[in-house]
Amino acid sequence: MRIIQLTDVHIADTTETPKGGVDTRSNFLKIVQKIADEAHDLMVLTGDICLDVPKMSIYEWAYRQLNKYLDISKIDFIAGNHDQTNMMCAAFGLEKHLRNATYYYTRNVHGYLFVFLDTSRGVVDEGQMGWLKNEIESSGAREIIIFMHHPPVYADVPYMDHNHAMKGRLLFQTELRSFTDRIFHIFCGHYHVDRTVAFDNLIVYITPSTYFQIDASVVAFRVDHLKTAYRVIDLNEGRGLISYVKYL
Ligand SMILES: [Fe+2]
Repeated sequence: MRIIQLTDVHIADTTETPKGGVDTRSNFLKIVQKIADEAHDLMVLTGDICLDVPKMSIYEWAYRQLNKYLDISKIDFIAGNHDQTNMMCAAFGLEKHLRNATYYYTRNVHGYLFVFLDTSRGVVDEGQMGWLKNEIESSGAREIIIFMHHPPVYADVPYMDHNHAMKGRLLFQTELRSFTDRIFHIFCGHYHVDRTVAFDNLIVYITPSTYFQIDASVVAFRVDHLKTAYRVIDLNEGRGLISYVKYL
């Protein structure tokens, strides 16, 4: 089974100008067309669909493009900090799992538990955390695959670690590490880098953006490069999980 992760597409409205003259609409279209050519079973768009301030017109434009090139029924969406959960769910018809303006749910796929979290407010709130623990306890899956916008760990990207790291990440780590008989594969975006952080039974995969990548060698904000990317996640029966980033 092949899953494609796309993240931090930061689509601009027609009145907005992205940093560095990047055309985020064109980047999005190119990558969606590339993904359409790559056989896959599921795609997950892990947040920050909007450039900066969430706008209905951006979600509607994104929906039209995705619907044109891909099977939209095989796409999962989660919200990032540049999304507004209610607006995103209204635009994509996702009200089914909307609870208190937060969008999270699980699904069983090929013996794995898939979890989709909402960190649009920069945190996995108490209600969501309690629900997550119940879902893990009641699932027989040894390997659990989580999609969440914010990495729940530091990743040695000083600008992001110091300014935009997930709130409550230590509690989140403690809760998941207490499930010592489970392995958590956690797929995130938000950091605009390619990173893997393995920590006890947590493996956190951070996927680059289709806007710009952040330079991790300096403390201040600096763009590293403008190559766009998506992630491939292959779940192979008897051969484990293989994941890598593909640059366009
Ligand atoms: Fe973000």
